[in-house]
Amino acid sequence: MQRSSSKPLRIHEVAVRDGFQIEPHFIPTADKIALINALGRSGVAKIEATSFSSPKAIPALADAAEVMLGIERQPHVTYAALVPNARGAERALQCRVDELNIVMSASETHNLANLRLRREQSMAGFADILGLASGSAAVNASLSTAFGCPFEGTIADEAILELIADLVAIGITRITLCDTTGMANPAQVKRLCSLALTAWPDITFTAHFHNTRGMGLANVLGAMEAGITHFDASLGGLGGCPFAPGASGNVCTEDLVHMLHAMGHDTGVNLQSLLDCASQLPAMVGHAVPGQVLKAGKWDRQYPAPGSLGSVQQRLAGTICGTAS
Ligand code: COA
Ligand code: ZN
Repeated sequence: MQRSSSKPLRIHEVAVRDGFQIEPHFIPTADKIALINALGRSGVAKIEATSFSSPKAIPALADAAEVMLGIERQPHVTYAALVPNARGAERALQCRVDELNIVMSASETHNLANLRLRREQSMAGFADILGLASGSAAVNASLSTAFGCPFEGTIADEAILELIADLVAIGITRITLCDTTGMANPAQVKRLCSLALTAWPDITFTAHFHNTRGMGLANVLGAMEAGITHFDASLGGLGGCPFAPGASGNVCTEDLVHMLHAMGHDTGVNLQSLLDCASQLPAMVGHAVPGQVLKAGKWDRQYPAPGSLGSVQQRLAGTICGTAS
């Protein structure tokens, strides 16, 4: 049952990038392509299909070009790829990526660890990439560690708002606020997202939460209360940044869609298709995955009552009769 709701929500699937980038063994290219094709048919709005990073830094996604060129494209799905620098943008554009997801960290230390750049160098590189992509692909900027950094701790809301202002000033219109290591809490999320949406109502903001401390779905609700309608999530709850200590999986896509549907929201996603995709993951990655709905079943799953209840009922009926007589 899916009840109606006001604003349709858009789900962005990131398992094949954020998830597979941290898997210890290489997932065969054909498996990645088959999974992306199935996810494309499930109704998600966007799939971050791969990353055009240095294959030395992220060997798990060294097949980015083969993946992008091998997939079937669904007309209503945006096929995005993460790009860490101009070299990655050029490679992605050659593979007809719909959207370049350029990335920098709100914290200087994580930016140096992940990209080997100072934040001002990242910002300058973004301007170059916008020029390269102009007329060929959309550009989304992801702001990692926007809700806290494993090296620097809390990052002030004002610092994030300044970075958003800098991104907007160079022409960015799509921004993802990323909780890279699951440090955010729902009150913080609602506060920061409200400030951002109030200041820049025309920017498309996406929220990207990792469930490292079990606050992922609660953070989605905090973001929704602020008015965010676009969410990254990862099939099975895979995910994690190799350059952030303690990073673990994203909010699980099928658990998120399940929760939103149970609450009466419209996502455009076929939950059963997602569950079918998720059921293939443990064999693909070689270990169990954190997603819970696949294990527990949907909220309206019903079990046959235990057979022994018949005798309990009989006994209760006897007690009641006995009491009445
Ligand atoms: N695509 C392919 N190769 C790339 C590349 C890209 N986007 N960027 C750099 N390279 C190559 C360089 O040419 C160099 O190759 P060589 O050793 O054969 O000469 C090699 O990678 C390393 O380059 P180096 O100069 O040491 O690093 P860099 O500063 O050029 O690259 C990064 C730094 C950040 C681009 C690289 O470390 C990277 O891709 N990191 C991964 C970031 C990421 O995806 N993080 C997780 C998601 S947030
Ligand atoms: Zn992430």
